[in-house]
Amino acid sequence: MKTILSLIAALSLSSLLVFGPVNSQQPDIDPVECSGRWIHIRNLPTRFNLDLLTNCSDFPLFDDFCPYLANHGLGQKTHNQTRSWYRTDPFMLELIFHRRMLEYPCLTADPAVASAVFLPYYAGIDSLRYLYGSDVNSSFEHGLDLFQFLKHYDSPQIWGNHQGHDHFLVMARPAWDFSQSVSCDQPIWGTSFLELPEFYNITALILESRTWPWQEQAIPYPTSFHPPNTALFEAWMTRVRQSRRSTLMVFAGGGGSSSSPNIRRSIRLECENSANSSEINDEYSKSCEFIDCSNGVCEHDPIRFMRPMLQSDFCLQPPGDTPTRRSTFDGIIAGCIPVFFEDQSAKTQYTWHLPEDKYNDFSVYIPKEDVVFKGVKILDVLLGIPRDKVRRMRESVLEIIPRVMYRKHGSSPGLKTMKDAFDIAVEGTLQRIKGRLQQVPLH
Ligand SMILES: *[C@@H]1O[C@H](CO)[C@@H](O)[C@H](O)[C@H]1NC(C)=O
Ligand SMILES: *[C@@H]1O[C@H](CO)[C@@H](O)[C@H](O)[C@H]1NC(C)=O
Ligand SMILES: *[C@@H]1O[C@H](CO)[C@@H](O)[C@H](O)[C@H]1NC(C)=O
Ligand SMILES: *[C@@H]1O[C@H](CO)[C@@H](O)[C@H](O)[C@H]1NC(C)=O
Ligand SMILES: *[C@@H]1O[C@H](CO)[C@@H](O)[C@H](O)[C@H]1NC(C)=O
Repeated sequence: MKTILSLIAALSLSSLLVFGPVNSQQPDIDPVECSGRWIHIRNLPTRFNLDLLTNCSDFPLFDDFCPYLANHGLGQKTHNQTRSWYRTDPFMLELIFHRRMLEYPCLTADPAVASAVFLPYYAGIDSLRYLYGSDVNSSFEHGLDLFQFLKHYDSPQIWGNHQGHDHFLVMARPAWDFSQSVSCDQPIWGTSFLELPEFYNITALILESRTWPWQEQAIPYPTSFHPPNTALFEAWMTRVRQSRRSTLMVFAGGGGSSSSPNIRRSIRLECENSANSSEINDEYSKSCEFIDCSNGVCEHDPIRFMRPMLQSDFCLQPPGDTPTRRSTFDGIIAGCIPVFFEDQSAKTQYTWHLPEDKYNDFSVYIPKEDVVFKGVKILDVLLGIPRDKVRRMRESVLEIIPRVMYRKHGSSPGLKTMKDAFDIAVEGTLQRIKGRLQQVPLH
């Protein structure tokens, strides 16, 4: 069963690769519109992408990810009738992005005229054999094979043109998984891909960047919402706008059950306490909902958390193992105002997608130390926000929805005019590379 699923997925993608750019039949590419935006996709052997998918059931410690490959990485539909909702696994962003790149309107076969060069390498999926597989003791080698290929085997001048400064790729995991020091004697965690001098010049689009991002830029985690046309997008927006929000705040996630003080524990306790309190504001029938997603039960089941998020004014987004969460984007898609407890959860990360100067308009910030150690109650802070301010904040959240969603590949022309997370990522990459090339002398 697993093998069959993976083969179906791999085949559908490989047939695309064989046919090349999806829009090659489109008659009129406007040359002015593409000026400064041409992208060349490097031709990589399938061992760097499609072949990696055939081993999708080989990493039991991670997960059997075969089911998530369906629909070019969007995963299976949540139910038969839907056209917008999928059981999307965020780690499949490498496939999703690749598929979208194939329909990018300004592709060029000539690397010499390209402003940027895309590497269709599934870095995160390839990292599994180092993180969870038989190559765990050689994680400093992750990427060396790719570099040899880029630099020496296939048209070396493509790399040589700008010494890699124009190359970019997607790495659909937190940077933490790729930044183990090369000389680390006792491997701790992760591969060394981002620590290799060989890749210092590239731009890596990643789910979470390091504190001092060097070559990487964070882009939104994919959610489960991938509308194919404007009508379905607008239908969802209407539902979000009209949804009755009878819960003040919701948290969907795991953790918080340990006894040592941390923000998730504080949230759990506050939620439990509030369930017993009788003094709930007339506005809300429930002050807090705690959706227990321990053991990954919510991961491919968006209905578990999307409905409560639609019914809630605020979504709590505390850090967990790492500062960022996919849930931040699920909440935004549901029109639920995010509550952050540290800047690394979004503000210092998604600088291309979430406007840094508007955080006060679309989100609430409560320092985690205030909650954990100073007795600040999240409920009190949120109940203290005037109703009309809450309404205005929700409008700001609604404006952001298109920027953080990944619309479905092959969307209608109408929906394509609205910039989504992919479009903004490509735009940011082009600008960043342009800036770089102005600093680096030509070879
Ligand atoms: C897939 O797994 C097989 C058997 O473990 C291995 O020989 C092969 O190299 C793997 N393929 C890739 C692309 O990692
Ligand atoms: C969904 O569609 C598939 C194939 O058409 C069918 O086998 C399956 O029973 C359907 N599931 C539901 C819940 O209707
Ligand atoms: C990795 O190295 C450790 C320590 O030397 C060893 O115990 C373990 O068996 C090695 N794992 C593999 C898969 O080679
Ligand atoms: C990265 O760029 C610098 C110049 O900015 C160059 O000296 C170096 O060789 C490049 N690295 C690689 C691996 O190409
Ligand atoms: C809340 O009430 C439940 C039963 O109604 C009780 O078991 C629980 O201990 C109470 N929690 C607090 C924090 O008072």
